[in-house]
Amino acid sequence: MREGGLDAREQALVAVAREAGALARELFSRPIEIKLKGKQDYVTAADGEVERMIVGRLKQRFPRDAFLGEEGGAEGSGDALWVIDPIDGTANFANRMPHFCVSIAFMSGGELALGAISAPMYGELYRARLGRGAFLNDRAMRVADTDIAHAVIELGWSARRPTRAYTAMVERVLATGATFQRAGSGALGLAYVADGRTHGYCELHINSWDTLAGLLMVGEAGGWTNDFLAGDGLARGNAVLACAPGLKEALVAATGVGQANENLKRRMS
Ligand code: IPD
Repeated sequence: MREGGLDAREQALVAVAREAGALARELFSRPIEIKLKGKQDYVTAADGEVERMIVGRLKQRFPRDAFLGEEGGAEGSGDALWVIDPIDGTANFANRMPHFCVSIAFMSGGELALGAISAPMYGELYRARLGRGAFLNDRAMRVADTDIAHAVIELGWSARRPTRAYTAMVERVLATGATFQRAGSGALGLAYVADGRTHGYCELHINSWDTLAGLLMVGEAGGWTNDFLAGDGLARGNAVLACAPGLKEALVAATGVGQANENLKRRMS
């Protein structure tokens, strides 16, 4: 990796996430132009504006790095890759609910190395670096130590999977004794698991720009995550499950997500 390595990218990431959060907050206070990309799949002019600002800043500093953005798609190639969701929770943003964030991850040589999530309406900046922990503003985060009977699990929904698969998953998760919620931002849902506010996040299909930063946070905060990048998870998305380690068995069984990893481990041991 050139141009200052991981330290320089970590610094740039935190600065650009903060700036992008401030821009998203400013755009939230103005009239919002809304379109649908698909069924219940919102996009606003703000998504494009925030992404262009992030990519522009990072390109100026790291001109040879590659980019994968929710709005702009893939650009460049090489082992240094930024994965960007300019506004995660776009439906909330479009409908004037403050539960949205900017999510940016950095991968080095195919491995998730850095992540930052800015939730500007809450004054929260989450960040993580592989092997160096996860933080909310200046406080280290840790997943909660909870049993299934006290657990709150966020179950993300999108029209990319059949409604029946979602409702069946809700039923199976409720049957474990846990309760569930859906707040509409996968990235913040994962950050909340890392901070022990909720105890698990699952979605039957989600894109890499919604999840990578949050997945690194959950791992660095002591949680368990499925192998989201398996197959073509980066380009095409995948199912995701992230949770407090004590809930893994119950949630893998209830959601079916992560089952393949577990079967393989069992066969190999
Ligand atoms: C969506 C949100 C939502 C999740 C969807 C995502 P967007 O991303 O993260 O919570 O359930 O799968 O597509 O469109 O708000 O960036």
